[in-house]
Amino acid sequence: MSRMCLDWGSVMQVVAVMNYKGGVGKTTLTANLGAEIASRGHRVLLVDLDPQANLTFSFYSIDEFHESLADDKTIMQWYLGDMPGRKANLADLVVTPEPVNRRFGDGDGQLDLIASHLGLIDIDLELAAKLGGTTIGESKRKFLELHGCLLKALKGPDFAQYDLVLIDCAPNFGLVTKTAIVASDHILVPAKADYLSTLGIEYLVGNCQKLVKDFNDYVEHGFSADSGFVAIRPQFAGVVFTMIQVYANKPIGTQLNYVEEVRMNASVPVLDGVVRNSPRHFGDAGSTGVPAMLRAALDDEVAAEFRDLAEEIITTITRQRSAAG
Ligand SMILES: Nc1ncnc2c1ncn2[C@@H]1O[C@H](COP(=O)(O)OP(=O)(O)OP(=O)(O)O)[C@@H](O)[C@H]1O
Ligand SMILES: [Mg+2]
Repeated sequence: MSRMCLDWGSVMQVVAVMNYKGGVGKTTLTANLGAEIASRGHRVLLVDLDPQANLTFSFYSIDEFHESLADDKTIMQWYLGDMPGRKANLADLVVTPEPVNRRFGDGDGQLDLIASHLGLIDIDLELAAKLGGTTIGESKRKFLELHGCLLKALKGPDFAQYDLVLIDCAPNFGLVTKTAIVASDHILVPAKADYLSTLGIEYLVGNCQKLVKDFNDYVEHGFSADSGFVAIRPQFAGVVFTMIQVYANKPIGTQLNYVEEVRMNASVPVLDGVVRNSPRHFGDAGSTGVPAMLRAALDDEVAAEFRDLAEEIITTITRQRSAAG
């Protein structure tokens, strides 16, 4: 299999896969994109930030999760405590799911995971309650430390070995999701091509931009010059339309209308590639531990279409990375 050109030198790139609309294919895209890129000889880390833990269960059975992950190998342990990272080191939570990694053969491809946990839902609320302070300076400091916690950890030396980190966000805009936006170099927005889904895209973009602006205002005019943070610049890699229904090998017209409308009006790019609606490929996430794209029995035109989308995403990230300097 050809080695995809991840032409961003040795600087690991972080991509947040987010949409606070539920069930739009975020997790399915994250699992398959990660597997596809790793299968081409790259080192990819998936981070499951959704308490539903669907990404985790794409690679581990429920029994395996309870036996070897739940107690001390999930992101929940890292977010615990008065400040994320105090009770556990993020790098110590990395696991390497076996079935999918066996598919990579002798190449140097690797797909690692930081698993999630249902309990993260409570931690998210507790974290948000830690914002604020008795002085403006203290509030700003806490805002930066809490929102920037994942950025600080992922950009540290422990994760420099990865080419790419993909973060699967929960369908909300809580504090944990915000830590992913702040940590990201690029944001991918999976969306369904229907009225309500397309309606929410600008709102979502606006909320991300406001978060980035607030963070950067505090970095630049914050409590002190030595907060340890610099201004962040996550870029929208684009909207990826998912579950596109195809008839006679073409997307059906009503869905294309929604895609075109977003393409014309949205303030962020829309990728040309889409994920086709195919329950046979994408409908049974979790049952085998190996994402559809790596299952030989499913290597057909849907898989080829997904590979094209993966190439487009990589090209976009590469372009954005080189423009960012
Ligand atoms: N392209 C597709 N074709 C058919 N089924 C799909 C496709 N993509 C995802 N699905 C199925 O749709 C459901 C929702 O997908 P997924 O879990 O990836 O969405 P999500 O955005 O991560 O959801 P949540 O917001 O709950 O985290 C799952 O059952 C998945 O197997
Ligand atoms: Mg999900």
